[in-house]
Amino acid sequence: MTLKNQLSDSLYQSYKKNTQQAYDYEKTISYHRAQTEKLSWIRFTTWRQRKIIELFLKRIEKNSDIKVLDVPCGTGIMTDVITKYTTNLLSIDISDDMLNIAKENYPQGEYVNLDILQLNSLNQSFDLVLTIGILHRLPQDIRNKVLYNISQISKKYIIVTFSKDYYLMRVKRIIMGIIFKNYKPAPQPIKYSTFAKEICNQGLTIIKKIAVVPFLSSEIVVLLSKKTNK
Ligand SMILES: C[S@@+](CC[C@H](N)C(=O)[O-])C[C@H]1O[C@@H](n2cnc3c(N)ncnc32)[C@H](O)[C@@H]1O
Repeated sequence: MTLKNQLSDSLYQSYKKNTQQAYDYEKTISYHRAQTEKLSWIRFTTWRQRKIIELFLKRIEKNSDIKVLDVPCGTGIMTDVITKYTTNLLSIDISDDMLNIAKENYPQGEYVNLDILQLNSLNQSFDLVLTIGILHRLPQDIRNKVLYNISQISKKYIIVTFSKDYYLMRVKRIIMGIIFKNYKPAPQPIKYSTFAKEICNQGLTIIKKIAVVPFLSSEIVVLLSKKTNK
């Protein structure tokens, strides 16, 4: 059954608009500039994410050539961090504009245009799957399908980010919304207890979690591993 048939029409349309088709050429260019050139919040949080991911890579890297999947890879911003630890990296995204920028910046990489919900069509598995910067956009149904897909394709480790919903963060959102007209908080934050339950349902264990910017950002980077007795 296709995803379209499994979801209500409005949920499916929102998924298409806010994730699958969220990055056209102009948005991609401005996202990449914000990540790399401008003095911006996105640049700062991307820098912090890279540091945290490197910390996790150091922790799990046991041999020099672990097989890694970066999905969605976006502009390939994590590529040089990952390739410090392995040469065996596959990068996937659904946007050709994103993939073109990634190829321009990191021509040594291997890139495939694929929907994260179609990962089984790769017929491959990976020691580590990175899923950075997408769960915070997905409603529960689709988020769980993504978690299922990445847990199926991972042999051992997964690194994900999600947006944590808690009281102080809600207050911050209200204040930021009043101060900044263009303020766009993560559309699908979730309580930590909900996230932990969803992770457990997929046969995964949380090894370590680190806030990207404690108190100022709701984004958390989490290192997961597959339960051995699954
Ligand atoms: C906020 S960016 C994050 C990219 C990257 N991981 C980073 O840290 O910058 C979200 C990415 O998800 C991609 N995307 C959205 N829906 C997707 C889907 N269904 N399958 C694969 N990629 C998708 C977008 O094209 C975009 O590149």
